[in-house]
Amino acid sequence: MRTLVLAVVLLLGACDGDDSRRRAAEPVSEDPPSFCGDRAEEVGERVEALLGQMTLEEKVREMTGYRDTFLGPLFDAGGSERLGIARFRMADGPRGVRGGDATAFPVGMARGATWDPELESRVGEAIATELRAKGGNVLLAPAMNVLRHPRWGRAQETYGEDPHHIGRMAVGFIRGAQRHVVANAKHYTANSIEATRYDVDVRIGDRALREVYLPHFRHAVTQGPVGSVMSAYNAVNGDKCSESRTLLTDILKEDWGFRGFVVSDWIYAVHDGVEAANAGLDVEMPAPVAWEELMADVESGAVDEAVVDGAVRRILRTKLCFGLDEMEPFPESVLESEEHLALAREAAGRGIVLLKNDGALPFDAPQSVVVVGELAAVVNTGDSGSSAVEATKTVTPLEGLEARAPGAAVLHVPGPDFTPDDEAAIAEADAVVVFVGLTGDDEGEAIFGDGDRASLDLPREQDALVSAVADLSDRVVVVLEGGSPSLVEAWIDDVEALLMAWYPGSQGGDAIASILYGHASPSGRLPVVWPRSEGDLPEFDNESLQVDYGLWHGYRYQDRGGLSPRYPFGFGLGYTSFELSDLRTSAGAIDRDGALAVEVDVTNTGAVAGRETVQLYVSYPGSAVERAPVDLKAFDQVAVEPGETKTARLVLEAADLAYWGAQSDRWVVEPLDYRLRVGTSAADLPLEATVSVRTWD
Ligand code: BGC
Repeated sequence: MRTLVLAVVLLLGACDGDDSRRRAAEPVSEDPPSFCGDRAEEVGERVEALLGQMTLEEKVREMTGYRDTFLGPLFDAGGSERLGIARFRMADGPRGVRGGDATAFPVGMARGATWDPELESRVGEAIATELRAKGGNVLLAPAMNVLRHPRWGRAQETYGEDPHHIGRMAVGFIRGAQRHVVANAKHYTANSIEATRYDVDVRIGDRALREVYLPHFRHAVTQGPVGSVMSAYNAVNGDKCSESRTLLTDILKEDWGFRGFVVSDWIYAVHDGVEAANAGLDVEMPAPVAWEELMADVESGAVDEAVVDGAVRRILRTKLCFGLDEMEPFPESVLESEEHLALAREAAGRGIVLLKNDGALPFDAPQSVVVVGELAAVVNTGDSGSSAVEATKTVTPLEGLEARAPGAAVLHVPGPDFTPDDEAAIAEADAVVVFVGLTGDDEGEAIFGDGDRASLDLPREQDALVSAVADLSDRVVVVLEGGSPSLVEAWIDDVEALLMAWYPGSQGGDAIASILYGHASPSGRLPVVWPRSEGDLPEFDNESLQVDYGLWHGYRYQDRGGLSPRYPFGFGLGYTSFELSDLRTSAGAIDRDGALAVEVDVTNTGAVAGRETVQLYVSYPGSAVERAPVDLKAFDQVAVEPGETKTARLVLEAADLAYWGAQSDRWVVEPLDYRLRVGTSAADLPLEATVSVRTWD
């Protein structure tokens, strides 16, 4: 069988385009990803026994939410007392549990900037633990859409713009969360506009779909392996995601071997219940709307009962594999526990990205600090959409700065207008920190409004505030907040330092202060490219009901266009310096189904401890199709003491070098000399090596 698959794959690969040396390399998964481990057989038998006892009404009940939990925060679905089947009890979300006290972690984008899947796994586990304390068993997270444009209102919820990076971070979260509950990879797929999210049809060619808008979801399925997936509101290539057989059955369930269940995004995600059932949707949430008539549709023959059985089988399998029938709630003491607050602080600190530093940071034991801007006194945790969290234990940046500066006078000048006394204080202060950025009033999920940003500019009065402070002091540190980059061209040359703090969660104030005072060295790296102007990005059209997505956005778009970003993808400064050396590869050539181990030495050449994220990008000289100038394929992070050298270890699989052959409908790995480029951002790649991929020719 395997030989046959291989032969077919080879044949198809050889037919793609006009270069017959190119070969197909879709990795064929022989063992479907399982979250059931060695219980799969026993669970399978129990599922069949239950199915055999269920009426059609009971089966349909498994597939829908309840009207009385329609508004959440716990959304129930399915379950049967008669048969002893547990209900799904679902709750958001990506930055903490929604509904009542919970730890507000930094948003996904801030955690994406940590580039640390292990830390993300601890965050996923902590959120899942808090969900268990609230009686939930399905966590509606992680949000893992590609950030195609930073004006997207929900930019804050996802991890960044690059599918490899998003996939790695999401798998970290999923593995942590699934120690306690079922995780949910959302929103599948190409969901990256708010204003038209319910209706927009995103047109994507096969290559862009496979290479840009699917790989991270595939990674979540095969490597998580995630227990549930949420289909997006938007349509892709004419089909609502909840009604797309191509996405739900052909790709997700058949190609990738997904064994869990697919839940619709909430209200308005399903228009045609028959289409959705036949396409492979398993659960309609938050209540039966399109599936109000599902029983009748089965009775009339519009939906085969085997389709319903297939969905119920997946639902029951997930419930039993994750032990939902035996799950006990955790004690409420885990909510905002000291341990979780410390983790929120750690994640916030690790996600902060130092973008500019002309020596103003860290502070050198200042006697007087002036803090400017209203945001300094705000716990700015993000938007008020479905991912909002009601934290009760919080630290504002001002409180954080005061707590970490015993002995120093900290003065808050909210602005925007300054009195002569304010001006004098700013001019004379040892350190001046200006807080600017966005809040949930400027961007967020479109529940009641638009949600997307009107532009990438900061509010005009904020630009004016920074400039006014820069006129008074030459020790100006700007701390910027928000879910994605804002343009800083108006004042960046006039200030001494810039930190991107994102929405740093309930403990963010302390994390920001710890970096300003040098109690920690910043190690966040940009998970998105930072543009100089909106014209340097692809168009963001949140009015049309049909939009086209191509292969290029983010750093790849900028690189192809020869544009120079304000700050490159993967970039971030620290308080120490690193030297990368001695790039080693395990081989000079690999087979198309092989993998390459890559090692790089990282020496901390500065005076304080720090972390470096080593990034491996690939270039494709001589490729038969257009490729990105550099493509992120692996990364590893090392914590290094001053004077110490550590080794970063990266793995590159030949399958990661493939492009999607649109004519052959297969992944194609070309027999090329691939150029590996290693460094600390997409624009700083000093180490190089070449690896060739061997074929059967
Ligand atoms: C959002 C989802 C969320 C769901 C439940 C939807 O509007 O798009 O991300 O999980 O609501 O709150």
